[in-house]
Amino acid sequence: MGKQLQRSHRLVLVPCPYEGHLNPMLQLGTVLHFKGFSITVAHTIYNSPNPHNLPDFSFLPMPDGLSDRGVTSMDVVGDVLAVNENCREIFQRSLEKLKETQGEIISCIISDELMFFAEDVANNLKIPSIILRTTNAATSFARSGLVKLKEKGLLSQDTLSNELVPELYPLRFKDLLFSLSETLENFSAIVTKIYGKRASSAIIWNTVSCLEQATLEQIQQQCKVPIFPVGPIHMIAASNSSSLIEEDRSCLSWLDKQPHNSVIYVSNLGSLASVNEKEVTEIAWGLANSNQPFLWVIRPGSVHSSDWIELLPKGFQDDVGDKGCIVRWAPQREVLAHPAVGGFWSHCGWNSTLESLAAGVPIICKPCFGDQKVNARYVSHVWRIGLELEELKRRDIESAIRRLILHEDGKEMRARAKELKEKFEVCTRKGGSSCDSLNELVNFIMSFGT
Ligand code: UDX
Repeated sequence: MGKQLQRSHRLVLVPCPYEGHLNPMLQLGTVLHFKGFSITVAHTIYNSPNPHNLPDFSFLPMPDGLSDRGVTSMDVVGDVLAVNENCREIFQRSLEKLKETQGEIISCIISDELMFFAEDVANNLKIPSIILRTTNAATSFARSGLVKLKEKGLLSQDTLSNELVPELYPLRFKDLLFSLSETLENFSAIVTKIYGKRASSAIIWNTVSCLEQATLEQIQQQCKVPIFPVGPIHMIAASNSSSLIEEDRSCLSWLDKQPHNSVIYVSNLGSLASVNEKEVTEIAWGLANSNQPFLWVIRPGSVHSSDWIELLPKGFQDDVGDKGCIVRWAPQREVLAHPAVGGFWSHCGWNSTLESLAAGVPIICKPCFGDQKVNARYVSHVWRIGLELEELKRRDIESAIRRLILHEDGKEMRARAKELKEKFEVCTRKGGSSCDSLNELVNFIMSFGT
């Protein structure tokens, strides 16, 4: 297909306004633009993407009711529901205007799995729609399974424990909730909204068959619409960084000075989670005591009651000297691809997990919430390319780092991660499963006509 497709086919993308959701959607847009589609991104003003990084796209900003706040709220579910409420009308009016004034024909709306309003508007305007899932297939399968158990009366609030979920090894009940404080009722309501019957014509998945084939097949058997696993999308899209925070590239020259496979890259909070002073102190001394070089991302605002690194323990930075490098935000994919990096301490957001596997880097998993807990279990127990850190205690941190970087079983994890990297390369090459799936997706969208 490629460049020969006439750019009369416009796609409207509707991302969810968080780093881990925006990145894969914009990368998907880049791939589909390369395939010949015109791209409009309908985005909230809160956490809006930078249009200068994406000069080929047009943008449709939507007032969202959150934008005045400036900082990310920790009530992600509440914020997502508010965006769905606040953007519905403006989105519908903007699309109607686009059609009337510019005579635009919209081939399809592709929306994040959490942007339910976009699917409703597509229905109202009789425009085909497709969902993009930015979490993995295992999470979807397992959460839907939990709701079915609840419907059969086999689950109560007391069951949500360390126990393994029947037929869902290695997941425990507690791995499937969004957070531990949540009630089963709320959980079922949200899961049903995300994974239940949807109006869209297909699902695009940022995952890859060689990693989740059996789960994807099981989901496809139950799902009436086609599924397109086109991931890891970042390996298919030759895109500029679309990061919401400015990347500090100086860490790359620091990495150049470190021995191969020696550095632990620490980005253990992702774009949303945070820690308190006690926790950051344990992390700091755990890193220092491991005696391995470390590159540590401390996102501004991620340590409670401080702007950045003011609450690091006294003497810590003098103690570690050149052995440690701290940045506000890193060019993560380049860092993971650097030969000095021997391991990644991650919160196991799905993008970070895919990026680590794509670079062949083993992981210390310390999930914070949501799908991260499922990802961590799969990394450590199914794909066996990482280990779980149970508690944020300096001794545990020190020994996890030394085990991953220096010990024999850490080396075995690294070898398995490298095998997966090679498999990913095959899947994302011409003729590979993700590449074929992407071509099928393009043909599917073209079959809607204009
Ligand atoms: C959350 C969920 O945890 C995740 O599973 C879901 O799919 C999306 O929302 P988030 O906390 O943002 O994700 O983590 P993750 O999915 O890992 O995404 C973080 C992104 O930020 C990655 O693409 C990573 O490369 C990027 N990043 C992170 C940087 O570019 N620099 C950094 O220093 C840290």
